[in-house]
Amino acid sequence: MTVKEKEKLFKHLARHHDSMDYPPIMLYRNVKRESIKSAWRKRIVEISRGALDYPGMYIHVPYCQTKCFFCKFRTRVGNSEKITGRYLDCLKEEIKDFAPLFKKVGFKTLYLGGGTPTIFSAGQLDTLFTALEKEFNLKDTFQRLIESSPATLNPEKIGVIKKHGFNRLTIGVQAVDRKVLDSINRRNQTVEMVRDVFFAARSAGIEVINLDLILGLPGQSGYSFLKDLDFILRLKPEAVHIYSYEEDREAVFVRAGRMATRKEKAGAVKLLRLADREIKKYGYRYFRNEPYLLFPRAANFQFQFRYSINGSLLGIGAGALSYIPNHFAYHNTGLDDYLKCRRGKNLPAYVEGYRLNSGESRINYVINNIRAGVDKARYLELYKSDFDKEFRGNMAALKKLDRLQEFEGLVRVAVKDNFEFRTYSKFFFSQKVVKELQKRAWSSE
Ligand SMILES: C[S@@+](CC[C@H](N)C(=O)[O-])C[C@H]1O[C@@H](n2cnc3c(N)ncnc32)[C@H](O)[C@@H]1O
Ligand code: SF4
Repeated sequence: MTVKEKEKLFKHLARHHDSMDYPPIMLYRNVKRESIKSAWRKRIVEISRGALDYPGMYIHVPYCQTKCFFCKFRTRVGNSEKITGRYLDCLKEEIKDFAPLFKKVGFKTLYLGGGTPTIFSAGQLDTLFTALEKEFNLKDTFQRLIESSPATLNPEKIGVIKKHGFNRLTIGVQAVDRKVLDSINRRNQTVEMVRDVFFAARSAGIEVINLDLILGLPGQSGYSFLKDLDFILRLKPEAVHIYSYEEDREAVFVRAGRMATRKEKAGAVKLLRLADREIKKYGYRYFRNEPYLLFPRAANFQFQFRYSINGSLLGIGAGALSYIPNHFAYHNTGLDDYLKCRRGKNLPAYVEGYRLNSGESRINYVINNIRAGVDKARYLELYKSDFDKEFRGNMAALKKLDRLQEFEGLVRVAVKDNFEFRTYSKFFFSQKVVKELQKRAWSSE
């Protein structure tokens, strides 16, 4: 394929598949859970023989209090302990199933994400954390993180979170403006609630509080966004995330045809620049892939370890993503099948994944870092391989398209948004993966 033909293919894929992962999720196939377990066993031997790794554990909770109309995640409303209790039973089964493999390995990070993990009651959270601590070696976790929303948090849950050593709490504020909250279907959330849960977490002594806002929603004015931003900055959280609204086909807004206008989109780009200046005035700084932190320790270290050393990730829960360097990238069974595993019944026999060799794992590292920049010296240190030699052809193609930046040993793909990133990062994909993508591409519209 010529460089231009590749660019056309990659643009097509970027338009129709929003995944930024490597290998792309559309290539995942059924893999026996038993094969995954045997790959983990091999990885654990590699770690015990000295492979550099800071294994992370991710627990996925796909339930929320309401379905926010902008949200791109596949979540379900789960407002009763009966619903969340069924899911908790399955999590406990899976924890018991995997734990024996990891007797010799301690996890460095524990991350509960979703969805909204704080949809669980205080008692359920306590049960889950206790099970995790009993079954896995979590004694040396460097960071324990949990995501939440204001309406699902309260002092009792914050107490449980603190008691179990969580030192980073994300509160998804999204918006503070009453009209915006109503229009995105977060009617339960109020400004007082945000303030109360924030200070409850502060008083409990949670070390890092991260607040999320979303920008560029249909109907959200620049004025309302900046007012919301000012409100959260005055709370002085240790980390701030501003998500630019992406019109994902999963979002209720998109399915209902409620799209941001061209003017709103252009406004959002300008607003992001304005917000950036405003946030920096408060002393927030960039650290690796994370834009707004008061100090480096406020970063999400599960992401940091994944990106900086290409570390292992064990995902527990429906649809959770996992990564076994040199062996597999996979995601767990979807929610409906996952829920069948209750009280000692077998877990689904298959997950969906893609087998990796060490070369594919190195590409995974490159894709995770090529936007911020791959440091060639670091690459050599990690993989004992010369980046220029290994990726000569890939870099030449990007240079032809004027999409490669090189500066003081750092190599970067030059892109201005996620779409361009999804397009041009694919120039680093292996030939095998590109061939598979080519076969699938035009048939999957
Ligand atoms: C998995 S969500 C968890 C948030 C949490 N459940 C809450 O209620 O805020 C993580 C983040 O993804 C962001 N997000 C969700 N849908 C998005 C979209 N369509 N575009 C951009 N960011 C989005 C939100 O800002 C959210 O804070
Ligand atoms: S933003 Fe959070 S609460 Fe809202 S639907 Fe998405 S994951 Fe659930």
